[in-house]
Amino acid sequence: MTVQTNEQLQDELDALNAQITKQGSAVRELKKAGDADAVAEAVAKLQALKINAAEMGKSLVSDEPEFNRKAFDELVLRKMFVVPSFEIHGGVKGLFDLGPPACSLKAAMIDLWRKHFVLAESMLEMECTCLTPEAVLKTSGHVDRFTDLMVKDPQTAECFRADKLLEDAIDSLLEANPTMPVEEREDHLRIQRQADAFSPTELDELLIKYDCKGPSGEAYTPSFPFNLMFKTSIGPEGTSVGYLRPETAQGLFVNYRRLLDLNAGKMPFAAAQIGLGFRNEIAPRSGLLRVREFCMGEIEHFVNPKDKSHPNFKSVTDKELVLFGRDDQLGSGKTKTIACGEAVESGLINNETLAYFMARTQLYMEKIGMDPQRLRFRQHLATEMAHYAADCWDLEIKSSYGWQECVGHADRACYDLEVHSRATKTSMVATQKVDPPQEMEVAKLKFDRKLLGQAFKGDQRVVSGMLESLAESWTDFEPIATKLENDGKTTVEGFEITKEMMTWTKQKKTVHEIKFTPSVIEPSFGMGRILYSLLEHSFYQRESDEQRVVMRFTPQVAPEKCAVLPISSNPECNEIVDDIARDLMDSDLATRVDKSTAAIGRRYSRSDELGIPFAVTVDFDTLNDGTVTLRERDSTVQVRLPKNDINYLLFQIVHSRMTWEDVMKKYPVVSTGDDTEVAAEDAVTVVEQTSRGAFRRPAQPK
Ligand code: ATP
Ligand code: GLY
Repeated sequence: MTVQTNEQLQDELDALNAQITKQGSAVRELKKAGDADAVAEAVAKLQALKINAAEMGKSLVSDEPEFNRKAFDELVLRKMFVVPSFEIHGGVKGLFDLGPPACSLKAAMIDLWRKHFVLAESMLEMECTCLTPEAVLKTSGHVDRFTDLMVKDPQTAECFRADKLLEDAIDSLLEANPTMPVEEREDHLRIQRQADAFSPTELDELLIKYDCKGPSGEAYTPSFPFNLMFKTSIGPEGTSVGYLRPETAQGLFVNYRRLLDLNAGKMPFAAAQIGLGFRNEIAPRSGLLRVREFCMGEIEHFVNPKDKSHPNFKSVTDKELVLFGRDDQLGSGKTKTIACGEAVESGLINNETLAYFMARTQLYMEKIGMDPQRLRFRQHLATEMAHYAADCWDLEIKSSYGWQECVGHADRACYDLEVHSRATKTSMVATQKVDPPQEMEVAKLKFDRKLLGQAFKGDQRVVSGMLESLAESWTDFEPIATKLENDGKTTVEGFEITKEMMTWTKQKKTVHEIKFTPSVIEPSFGMGRILYSLLEHSFYQRESDEQRVVMRFTPQVAPEKCAVLPISSNPECNEIVDDIARDLMDSDLATRVDKSTAAIGRRYSRSDELGIPFAVTVDFDTLNDGTVTLRERDSTVQVRLPKNDINYLLFQIVHSRMTWEDVMKKYPVVSTGDDTEVAAEDAVTVVEQTSRGAFRRPAQPK
C-alpha cells in the first residue's frame, strides 16, 4: 500500500516538476517580450508551483523510514556490533572489527546464504587461499587494470578518489539549488551516474567544470590510476610477488578443470566461495560500506554460451524485480517493476540464468529481513561494462548513504576461463550431450601444424583448440572463413591467423556432443555491505519513547533467538531459567539469560537493542503451574504458555515453519502494552491467572 502511495506521489511530483520547467520557460519568454504585468503574474504562478512541489517532496520523504544516525551509531558501538579495529592504537581507516552480536548475525546470514544458494542448487563450494601469486592476477587483468583514478591535493599530498569527488560535487550543487529545473538536474545526475566510467582526461575536465578544489584550496593534480591490491611477497627470499586477493573468484576459475571433472563433466554447474577480499581503497568512507578487508560470497555459474537458459527459471518467472535499466538511467530516471520472466522476454535482462540469479538474490535479501522497498537492480551502462561482458546488474541497497551496490550480477562471457587457459595452456573446454542428436553444419579443419608451431610456439594447442571449438558450428566459423578468403588473414582472440595455416570444408554432421569454453555468470555478494545495510534497515526507535531503540532482526537471522529472564532472584526461578535456556541451547537456539536485578522492562529493552525476537519470563506462577510468558519484541505482546512448549515453538518459528500469529491464536494473550515503560519505574510485575482463564497483572507484594 505504502509503495503505491509513494509511487503515485512521485508521479505527481514528476508531473509538477515538468510544469515548473514549462512555466520557467514561459517566464523567460515574457521577460523577453517586456510585459511587466504578465511577467509578475507568471512568476507568481511559478512560485506557487514550486511551493507545491516542495510540499509534495516533503510528504514523499516522510513515506520513507526516518533514520536517526546519532542513535544508530551510538547503539552499534555500545552493543559492539561494529567497532573500529585497533581502536586503542588510534585505529586504521577502512578496518573494522565485528563484535559479538554482528559475528552471530553474519554467521546466520552466511548460513542462510549457503542454504539458499549452495545447498539448494548443489553448487561446488571451495575455500581457496587469500594469498595469490602474481601470475594469476596478471592473467586475470588485476595487476594492470584493477585501479581507481586518484588525484592529490598539490599542497598537502592528500589522496582522493577522483570519481567520488565528482559525485560529491554534484550532490553539493544539487543540494544548494533545490529549485533547479528538472531537466538541468537530470543532466547533472546523468553525469554523476557515469562518474566511474570516465577516462582520466574526461574526469579531469569535469573536476574543473564542477570547480572541485582540494583542502588547501588549490585545484587537484591530474588523475592517475592507482592499483587497489595489497602487494606482498611469498616465501623468505622475497622474490616471489604475491597479492592478497581482491576477490574470491579467481580461485574458482583456476580450479575449474578439476571442478568440472568432479561434476562428472556435467554442464551447467556452479562453484561458490565465501571468504575475505582485500582492497586498498583510496578513500574508505561510508562506515562499513567501503572498507579495506571484507567478506565476499561469490558464485561462478558455468554455462554453454549459446544456451543460457536455467533449469529452475520457471520458479522465478513471476517474481517482480525493481529494475533500473540503462535506458531509464539515461532517460526517465525512473525504475520499473517487472516480473523476471517478462524482463528476459523483452530483452531487458540478457538471459535466463542472469535473471534467475537476480531473482534468487532478491529472495535472499527478503529472507534475511532487508526492506524490499529499499532494493533495486541497476544495469551497468555500456561505458561501465568490461568489453567482454554481456550484461551486468548490481543489486543496490538504499541506506542513509544513498543507493549502494551490494551484489554484482555479471555475465562475464568466456573471458576468465579463456585468459587462464591461454596463460597456462590448460584446456577449459566443456562438452555437452546433444539430446536427441542433431544434424548440424560444421567446418572440418585441417591444420598446417608446422606453420602453426612456427607462429604460435607454445600457444599452438590453444589456438588450434579455439578454432576447433568455433568450427563446431558453421555459423560461428563462417565469418572467419570469409575473412581468410578475402583478406588472407584474421584475428581470433588476439591471435593472427593466416589462410596458409589451415584448410576447411563445410560439412553436415550428426552431432551427439558439442564442445565449448563456458560462459561465466557471476553473482558477487559483499557480505559486509549487506550486513551494514541490514543493521540500518533493522534499526528503529519506539514511537512511545525515542530512547528505546530496537533491532528488528527476523528470528531466522537474529544473533540470539530468545532471552530468558527470572522475574525475581528467587533461586527456584533461577533454576527454571537455567533449565529453559539449556534446553533452547541444546536445540541450537542461541539464548541469553539476564538474571540482573534491573527492572523487567529494562531487561526487555536490553534484549530489544540486540534484536532478540523473543523473551521468556519465569515468574512466581511458573513455580506453581509451570507456565511462563513469551514476549514478541516488535509488538511487545505477551502470551502465557507451558514452559515445556517454548522449545518446540521457537524452533518452528526460527525455521520459518510457524509465525507469531500462529502462537497468538494458540495461547492466551496476557499483555499488549508497551512493557518497556516499566523500565523507568523499576517495577516488578507478575502475571496471575484468574478463574476465567484471562490474566491480570498485579504488582508483586513486597
Ligand atoms: P565499488 O564500485 O563500490 O567499489 P565494485 O564494483 O568494485 O564496487 P565488485 O568488484 O563488483 O565491486 O565487488 C563485488 C562486491 O564486493 C560489491 O558488490 C560490494 O558489495 C563488495 N565490495 C567491493 N568493494 C568493497 C569495499 N571496499 N568494501 C566493502 N565491500 C566491497
Ligand atoms: N512477563 C512479565 C512482565 O512482562 O511483566
